[in-house]
Amino acid sequence: MQSRQKVGDTAPEEFRKQLHELADWIADFRENIEALRVAPEGRPGAIREQLSKRAPEEGEPFEEILTDIDHIIVPGMVHWSHPMFLGYFGWTTTAPGILGEIVTAPLNVNAMTWRTCPAATELETVVIDWLRQWVGLSDEFEGVIYDTASVGIMHALAVAREEAAPSTRKLGLTGRNLPRYRIYTSDQAHSSAEKAAIALGLGEENVQRIPSDAEFRMDVPALRSMIERDLKDKYKPLAAIATVGTTSTASIDPVADIAKICRENKMWLHVDGAYGGGFAILPEYEWITKGWSDADSIVINPHKTLFVPLDFSILFVRDLERLRRVFTLVPEYLRGDTIEAEKNYMDYGIQLGRRFRALKAWIIWRSLGREGIAARLREQMRLTNLLVDLIRADQRFEIAAPVVMPVVCFRFVGTVAGVGDAGPGSAIPATKFDQVNSEIVERINASGRAYLTQTKLCGRTVMRIGFGNVLTTEEHLRAAWELIQSVANDVCD
Ligand SMILES: Cc1ncc(COP(=O)(O)O)c(C=O)c1O
Repeated sequence: MQSRQKVGDTAPEEFRKQLHELADWIADFRENIEALRVAPEGRPGAIREQLSKRAPEEGEPFEEILTDIDHIIVPGMVHWSHPMFLGYFGWTTTAPGILGEIVTAPLNVNAMTWRTCPAATELETVVIDWLRQWVGLSDEFEGVIYDTASVGIMHALAVAREEAAPSTRKLGLTGRNLPRYRIYTSDQAHSSAEKAAIALGLGEENVQRIPSDAEFRMDVPALRSMIERDLKDKYKPLAAIATVGTTSTASIDPVADIAKICRENKMWLHVDGAYGGGFAILPEYEWITKGWSDADSIVINPHKTLFVPLDFSILFVRDLERLRRVFTLVPEYLRGDTIEAEKNYMDYGIQLGRRFRALKAWIIWRSLGREGIAARLREQMRLTNLLVDLIRADQRFEIAAPVVMPVVCFRFVGTVAGVGDAGPGSAIPATKFDQVNSEIVERINASGRAYLTQTKLCGRTVMRIGFGNVLTTEEHLRAAWELIQSVANDVCD
């Protein structure tokens, strides 16, 4: 069998046949995705039991591998591309996005320096600049593509650390009598702030969580007092992280007010727009960019909102040279490859080997255009507003947070048989309703018919729906809402 020959690659004619089969497989998967369960049945370990524990000694035909994908892998997945997947921020897979991934595969370059792949490097610069223009950032900002926002924030804070404690890249932090640095972010911000503090030796306890207001936005006076207290206690404020689109409710921190405090205290301002930043391409969301021009760094994840397949995150830094100074390091064996470049992206981060991520973004963004992206984001908002109306029309539920982006947090507060309801003056402990809300989500997810998430707001468990999938229609939304209502009936009976 050609595919199992000992050296060289699969014979061209066999490869062509496999590709044609795979093309059909992909098209069938996409067309029939709705017939699949959204989330798998089965206990932990059930998939592993079906897989060979021994690494293969001899090669196997692709057809056999694909059969196992069909019978073991696909049924063992949460299908994020399913139109009834309403978890997290929703998720999207598009046909042009899949084409982008497919085209990237055979090219398989390493975009570490300009010379190791000029097109990958130059296209990276181009797509970063497209996004910069779309979201209205000034050309003081340049960027770099990483896999995720967590990696982006770590790089941003590494620069903040270097600027606050020069020569840290050379000498490290210890034995230098440096102050304890503090990072400030809201109690709604993502845990990637702590992860970055851990990785950078700043210490997770030095990430101060500032309370948020009734609309889940950072309470700026509380930030100010926390910084004053820290200064009195001889801590050194290093950075603030303002979030545009928080993880639970998609709330928007008052970036301009936070920027003012950063300026006064010579602190780095990082804007975490991992989710919400992409909405700035819509004129009606221009207001979310207020204060961005004062930021030192801004992260946006086009893999969350702008239809690029995972993974694809852009970190913008005002004066990108600041990032380069912290991370450039050219080993001898790469020196020859770095001389004539305008940019070697390996200089802008910890990674040396780099995938050609820019290609898939270029393909999807050209395929949809800004107009196509905008139309799809607006459709997500239309579904969101419709869901809000449906929830408001059923008195057993309440909206649990202001709705600013396609994320809806809501809570069941109706009657629980033999116990009562959660209305004003209710004697039922709120924890009972926490259990009920959690149970509704768990049962829906276990049913395989839809997928929701739950989160806590002000200490109370709420259900949460995020729209993001281009396949999700009004019909899906109505089906999901009926499912939620009927599961709530079952849980409360
Ligand atoms: C607001 C926010 N920031 C950062 C992240 C981390 O994103 P990533 O998975 O790209 O590291 C998330 C993840 O959902 C998020 O919601």
